[in-house]
Amino acid sequence: MNELNEKGLPETLIRRQLELKLQEDLTYDRGQILGSMCTRPHRFAEQVYMKCLEKNLGDPGLFPATVELEKEAIKLLGSLLSNPKACGHFVSGGTEANITALWAARNLSKEEQSEVIVPASAHYSFDKAADLLSLKLIRVRSNEGFQVDTAAVKKEITSDTLAIVGIAGTTDLGVVDPIPELSEIAVAHGLYLHVDAAFGGFVLPFFKDLGYANFDFDFKSPGVSSITVDPHKMGLAPIPAGGIFFRNEKIMKSISVEVPYLSGGNTIQSTIVGTRSGASAVAVWALLMHLGRAGYRAIVKRCMDLTWKLAEGIEAMEEVSLVTKPVMNIVGIKSSKIDIHLLAEKLRERGRAVSVFPHHIRVAVMPHVKLEHVHDFLNDLENAVKEST
Ligand SMILES: Cc1ncc(COP(=O)(O)O)c(C=O)c1O
Repeated sequence: MNELNEKGLPETLIRRQLELKLQEDLTYDRGQILGSMCTRPHRFAEQVYMKCLEKNLGDPGLFPATVELEKEAIKLLGSLLSNPKACGHFVSGGTEANITALWAARNLSKEEQSEVIVPASAHYSFDKAADLLSLKLIRVRSNEGFQVDTAAVKKEITSDTLAIVGIAGTTDLGVVDPIPELSEIAVAHGLYLHVDAAFGGFVLPFFKDLGYANFDFDFKSPGVSSITVDPHKMGLAPIPAGGIFFRNEKIMKSISVEVPYLSGGNTIQSTIVGTRSGASAVAVWALLMHLGRAGYRAIVKRCMDLTWKLAEGIEAMEEVSLVTKPVMNIVGIKSSKIDIHLLAEKLRERGRAVSVFPHHIRVAVMPHVKLEHVHDFLNDLENAVKEST
């Protein structure tokens, strides 16, 4: 049907149509989605979100209470990132957050500076940011542990450099770059350092309490100017919920624009978009209050326990192996004998959607993954391996 009906259809009919039309989508609860960094949102956050659909953070004068809740949630997460004075916003996702960070970095730089040094593992959002902002990305190789090679970062710094990026939870393997070292480099050269913790931001803060390896990745390192943390990944918030956090107001003001016409009155916006989901911000606030540290810690522990189970199962197989010991709840599977793309296809035929990188398959063990899904996946992997050899 390509044309809009003249007369609207009854809701019941459309509901039935939707049920049929949406059947092809994969679902989180059946353990089919094993490659995504998103998950089934927390039920409570969904309920809160549904109550706030009309709220628009783009016109703050109309929704002052929603603005206040966004500020509170940003402060709560800022504290989790070792900086209660952090400011920022909830945006559509990690892509928008990373673009916003480089926007600020560029505005704070000298006019002639146009280069940003990023790890080879940096997410594609940095390519988009560079294109939009007319910046040049300098990609730096990783070391043997898949972290950015800091000596190589230093070598690339010139008078054209305006920023460095570090990743706390790489997209492909969930590895954490040495942020304290990058911070030292940034401070020594007077450069902006952005940390992309889109994934790790809701995982790493709980590692110390759980007795796992501790990673300094946040504002504790004095050179860190901004951090991306996505509530719609390990934060369990409904999509869209990305987060951009700045060390201080001065950095955020570098991208501020005055918007004088709004019905709520004059406002200053420091986001790419105008109209912005208040429901996302309120849902994040509610979830932070509801789950608390203990709630998130338990979620991280559960995901990590399953991750290790999955890793053990893979280590016991002959034709496939781990790319590296999992750092977070992300598992990289490689093979020297099987075409990894063919293997992913065979898995998809069995209803398992994994992510495929040039040399490995990625499984993200998100909160919707259950123990039985891990067992079923290992079973399917074993059979897919047999079919691929
Ligand atoms: C490290 C990292 N940064 C940024 C993003 C982009 O996030 P989004 O898809 O929410 O825009 C991703 C997506 O997976 C990511 O892994």
